[in-house]
Amino acid sequence: MSQVRYPEQVNQGRLNIELAERHMSALMKVRERFTTEKPFQGLTIGMALHVTKETAVLVRTLRDGGAKVVITGCNPLSTQDDVAAALAEEDGVEVFAYKGETNEEYYAFLRSVLDEKPDITIDDGCDLVTELHANYPHLLKTVIGGCEETTTGIQRLRAMERYGALKFPVIAVNDNKTKHLMDNYYGTGQSTLDGLLRSTNILLAGKVLVVVGYGSCGKGVAMRARGMGANVIVTEVDSFTALQAKMDGFRVMPMMDAVTEGDIYITVTGNIHVIDGHHMEQMKDGVILANSGHFDSEINLKVLEEKANSKRRVRHYLDEYTFADKVIFVAGEGRLVNLVSAEGHPSEVMSLSFCGQALACEYLVNNKGKLSAGVHVLPAEIDDTIAKMQLEAMGVGIDVLTKEQVVYLDLWQQGT
Ligand SMILES: NC(=O)c1ccc[n+]([C@@H]2O[C@H](COP(=O)([O-])OP(=O)(O)OC[C@H]3O[C@@H](n4cnc5c(N)ncnc54)[C@H](O)[C@@H]3O)[C@@H](O)[C@H]2O)c1
Repeated sequence: MSQVRYPEQVNQGRLNIELAERHMSALMKVRERFTTEKPFQGLTIGMALHVTKETAVLVRTLRDGGAKVVITGCNPLSTQDDVAAALAEEDGVEVFAYKGETNEEYYAFLRSVLDEKPDITIDDGCDLVTELHANYPHLLKTVIGGCEETTTGIQRLRAMERYGALKFPVIAVNDNKTKHLMDNYYGTGQSTLDGLLRSTNILLAGKVLVVVGYGSCGKGVAMRARGMGANVIVTEVDSFTALQAKMDGFRVMPMMDAVTEGDIYITVTGNIHVIDGHHMEQMKDGVILANSGHFDSEINLKVLEEKANSKRRVRHYLDEYTFADKVIFVAGEGRLVNLVSAEGHPSEVMSLSFCGQALACEYLVNNKGKLSAGVHVLPAEIDDTIAKMQLEAMGVGIDVLTKEQVVYLDLWQQGT
């Protein structure tokens, strides 16, 4: 039995899902094919993904492909309750999620998904897979494989692989070009600022905005923040990536230098305590801290709580911490600000990511028993198919190589 918080929001949820479907043409094409071919007939797909209207479009796609789908969230604060209500009404779908889950409820809901004995798992952050390995060892033999959505999840899976702990194949959907170079970049770039603005309504023009981490997500955030007039500083630990930021025209400096300049800080590293107590001590009065990395580990909130004299909630998911000489604001409780304070990535970009998820599930079924335990990437042709479908959806045509060009590109003899 599904567990959602506001079943009465079902109509708004349905309207939101329909709106998302309009903007997810590539995924709708996959759905059309799955509806006829039924690749998941008789299978159960267990998911831990942000329960958003875009995820609902993926759920319907897998369900129409024959699967029974059981879903929970992958973050206690990211569920869109109206969408959860609408999904709970769908045939062949069970939902365990609401915005504001406690940690205990979050894990209980993961277990509710695993109790349904999924044949395939879909994760965003690897919590479902780790819970399965820790407490459902009997499923390790029956699971066909898993799919992972995000950088942090892949990093955890590769660590499991290194230590011999990963017992079934998992597809690194995040590693598709059509995922991390699109979703992480354009999606996080736009939706992170959306979350920051909805929670603070601050003017970005003229502000000093520090982007911590210049990976796929950080590049997107920095680009969009500059576009809105912010003076962007980048901090990094990787030399080449720092060089890219410098060549892209941003100021690059160590965090200890940035802390006296920044008005706004956005962390997107997938790391722990990249904003720590000694940084907070140096910050100016009124700074805003936000995180768009997967876990709420990037800003050391425990130390902030300990150091602050008081804390109050000033508006929707915006907390003010008071010190003797200043206040510090934290948006979204240090969790993914784009999902806590806004609605996550726009549908168009999630269409690409979720084509990757849908086709990865099909790939697992088609290769059942053939893939070793470990992290796998999808063949480049599948990635290319996704890009083609999206171009078609956008009405964009491209050229094809001529026969002469194909031959030329295969030669080494022809030079100057
Ligand atoms: N908010 C969202 O919707 C969303 C979407 C996609 C990914 N993510 C998450 O965002 C995080 C970043 O993802 P990504 O794809 O950009 O990863 P990435 O690996 O491409 O980039 C992370 C960058 O952070 C840098 N870094 C690490 N530690 C640092 C430190 N102490 N100080 C400064 N820089 C540091 C790394 O050198 C790297 O360049 C991950 O947790 C990922 O799961 C969130």
